[in-house]
Amino acid sequence: MKVAVLYGGVSAEREVSLSSGKGIIDALKQKGHDVIGIDFNPDRLNEVIELEVDVVYIALHGRFGEDGKVQALLDMLKIPYVGSGVQGSALALDKAKSKLFFHQEGTRVAKEQVLYKHTFNEQSFRCELEFPVVVKPNQEGSTIGLTIAEDESSMIAGIKQAFEFDQTVMVEEFISGREVTVAVLGAKGQEQALPVIEIVPKNKFYDYEAKYAEGGSEHIIPARLSAEQTAYVQKHAVRSHQILGCEIYSRVDFIVPEDETQLPCILEVNTLPGMTPTSLYPDAAKEIGLSYPDMVEKLIQLSLE
Ligand code: DAL
Ligand code: MG
Repeated sequence: MKVAVLYGGVSAEREVSLSSGKGIIDALKQKGHDVIGIDFNPDRLNEVIELEVDVVYIALHGRFGEDGKVQALLDMLKIPYVGSGVQGSALALDKAKSKLFFHQEGTRVAKEQVLYKHTFNEQSFRCELEFPVVVKPNQEGSTIGLTIAEDESSMIAGIKQAFEFDQTVMVEEFISGREVTVAVLGAKGQEQALPVIEIVPKNKFYDYEAKYAEGGSEHIIPARLSAEQTAYVQKHAVRSHQILGCEIYSRVDFIVPEDETQLPCILEVNTLPGMTPTSLYPDAAKEIGLSYPDMVEKLIQLSLE
């Protein structure tokens, strides 16, 4: 099959995408496909428009890739691609809007305040949440621009930093607990939750370094959760993927409080989860017997069905 892989890109997660792209290109070559890799940026739009391929594998993360824009371009060109379409991608990358859907469906979400750059006023802003709080740009990934603030001044500094990445910023209650993630896989209506992965970062938090430095975190499969907690995160991962309109695959992140009487809290749905050597989705796939190349092949097959 002739496959184009779009990777790299222009978002803050460019480095992550370069690594995901390399993994996917190597896997496709191993499977005997004819692969064209494109480090995708606006200067290379013409190359995409002229592509004659069977399918495009989008290995981009963040803006102009994970947000539905590239998907819209490929839809107009009638070129099939792997994974979610325009609407699912756009909604999932917007953390604040996607939380409205999760809440509506009865999934626990962290309390939050959403701030907009054009109306934010440092003097009049009142934080209604208890410290510590998490400050994050609304549409970033890989914990880029994120601050865990213990007090007012670090929160304000965190908000200013987050506004450098996004016009919309979220201040959320900090939920103390274990970070787990659920890979979702399957054709529309037949999605399955893969075994739950628990992440044990070497740093205090699962930050950029813990995510991508070799040995930065340990992945425990299956996560050390009660049967009820496991069932909750798996059920709500699939449901959240479906209600946002996501397709074929995604990875849904949760915090599970130590206190078992508290429900796990959903963080977000990632429609183009990392596929780097330290990433989670490939580890979940391995648990159901799919090697990295087999996983890539399966995602393509499902997307072309
Ligand atoms: N945003 C990164 C790539 C992830 O969720 O894996
Ligand atoms: Mg993300």
